[in-house]
Amino acid sequence: MNPFWYPPHLDIGSVLRYTTPPTNEQFKSHLVSGEPFITRVDLPPHPNRPKTLDEWAELFGTTWKDPVQMWQNRLSNEDMNGWRQWLREGNEPSFEAFRDMRADFPNTYLSVVANDMYHKELIKDLYDRPEFIRDDDTGWGETSRWMYGGEAGAGVANHIDTIGCVCSWSTMLFGTKRWRLGTPPGEEPVEVSEVVQEQGDFMFWCAGTWHQTWIEEESLDVHGYVKLSYEQGSYARNLVGFAENAGRRELDGWTNVMEVADSCNPSNVEWINRTRHRIPGLVIRGWRIIPRGPFGWLALAVLAGWGVVRMVRRRKKKSE
Ligand SMILES: [Fe+2]
Repeated sequence: MNPFWYPPHLDIGSVLRYTTPPTNEQFKSHLVSGEPFITRVDLPPHPNRPKTLDEWAELFGTTWKDPVQMWQNRLSNEDMNGWRQWLREGNEPSFEAFRDMRADFPNTYLSVVANDMYHKELIKDLYDRPEFIRDDDTGWGETSRWMYGGEAGAGVANHIDTIGCVCSWSTMLFGTKRWRLGTPPGEEPVEVSEVVQEQGDFMFWCAGTWHQTWIEEESLDVHGYVKLSYEQGSYARNLVGFAENAGRRELDGWTNVMEVADSCNPSNVEWINRTRHRIPGLVIRGWRIIPRGPFGWLALAVLAGWGVVRMVRRRKKKSE
């Protein structure tokens, strides 16, 4: 039993699997419905495609110019202290140090993000994208590509990508990763599903969908984006309604420093704003503070009282 899955007690369904890759039309229907799926795709033969993390580090160690990032999502508190110490000692995550980092902090994984042509080509050379994704499906999302590599035991804790109006995909170059996905906060009924992604498996999920991962066998994947559909009745449009239903604790996970709100469809920005419940019972939208339930009114009264006290104190100071 994986101790990191959260929440622990739920009926777990399985993720939809296409036995043959979907057509572009079928794929587009997922941009409308937001339903996650998995399918096996072709990995075109490639002489230098890495088969291990060491091979990846060797290949990109000489060509990758941008910084690399280590994710410590599954580190224990003790290991986290060790990690901070490692950084304080002047170390920096790099392909060169990747093997040592994995040995010292086996639950971390390494990622690179390609934002310019040079780096995107490095990733696309290893794997571009499946045929069923067309140019008009990608839009601005095509501006970045990611790769994630980690040992068994690494992974990411339950979270939601709030990068905006996109769906994400991941194609596994080697290794095995277990995924657990959940319906967006506020959507009823709550459904949780699980799937194992192996070499050549293409995973698809959208902004708003909970997901967490657990690497079962040293793995490396390529990650890209596609545009969500905003047509009437689409998943993207319903997200705003789901957010209205959800409690603050559920929504807290939606905010993310990686947010690119201004690159999105306005209705998506609205959805993101609705997720910013920072004070229990209060929804903050721009300059408006909207109370929800008795606790919200109480919180608003406390806030207002605090504002008055501050104002009185300031006036007193001025007059002294
Ligand atoms: Fe994610």
